[in-house]
Amino acid sequence: MRYLVVSDMHGNWDAFKRVIRKVRRKRFDSTLVLGDLVGYGAAPNQVMDEVRSLPGKLHIVRGNHDKVAAGIESGDDFNDVALTSARWTAERLTKSNHEALRQLPIGPTVVETGTDGRAIVAICHGSPADEDVYLFSDREALEAFDAEPRSYVTFFGHTHLPSMFVLHQAGIRGALLRGDGELRLHPRMRYLINPGSIGQPRDRDPKASYMIFDSRQMTLKWRRLRYPVGLAQKRIHDAGLPAPLADRLAEGI
Ligand SMILES: [Fe+2]
Repeated sequence: MRYLVVSDMHGNWDAFKRVIRKVRRKRFDSTLVLGDLVGYGAAPNQVMDEVRSLPGKLHIVRGNHDKVAAGIESGDDFNDVALTSARWTAERLTKSNHEALRQLPIGPTVVETGTDGRAIVAICHGSPADEDVYLFSDREALEAFDAEPRSYVTFFGHTHLPSMFVLHQAGIRGALLRGDGELRLHPRMRYLINPGSIGQPRDRDPKASYMIFDSRQMTLKWRRLRYPVGLAQKRIHDAGLPAPLADRLAEGI
């Protein structure tokens, strides 16, 4: 199976649209969407519409911002900027998109299973152990591997950092994935992989981040794509959303 893997679009349609157009001619069996479709950015309906019209099979889980914008959670753990944008989003979502957001499944979800019943590919937002947990450290990643003991590759989002944790006999190793690259996964190791963020990258590279995974060849490609940041910033300013949400897009923070 060939997968397009995207996460954390955060209402940034200018970035998401650019990625979808870039990969349109490639044939994917499925798109994996790891949550946080909305929040922060000023084009939540456009992002939702784009996700809902993606070709091929869609596997998707909800993110913490999706839950607050959909009214599932109050957002009392959000900072002022995040809460302001979540409320702005909630007021502007179409009825159909609001309902679609409410219905997003909770991760982890198994996407592909091998003949031995082992989950070859699974997806979640934060961690398989808890959808709201951030996977930054080796210790957090170990807990995540334990929570989904039969999975081979689990894709996660939430941190907005393109990265991976590899579990092998000698222990665990974490790495940030810079720029564009490619790797063949090892059949006897286990992987937690983050495609980074489409709509609000936080690794000081403002380009949209996404991945392509082929589960037959076991090849993983990570990609960055320049998009018109100024358009996304203008939407945020025109919407009256907090200015830092526009500023950070240019910095990739
Ligand atoms: Fe996010």
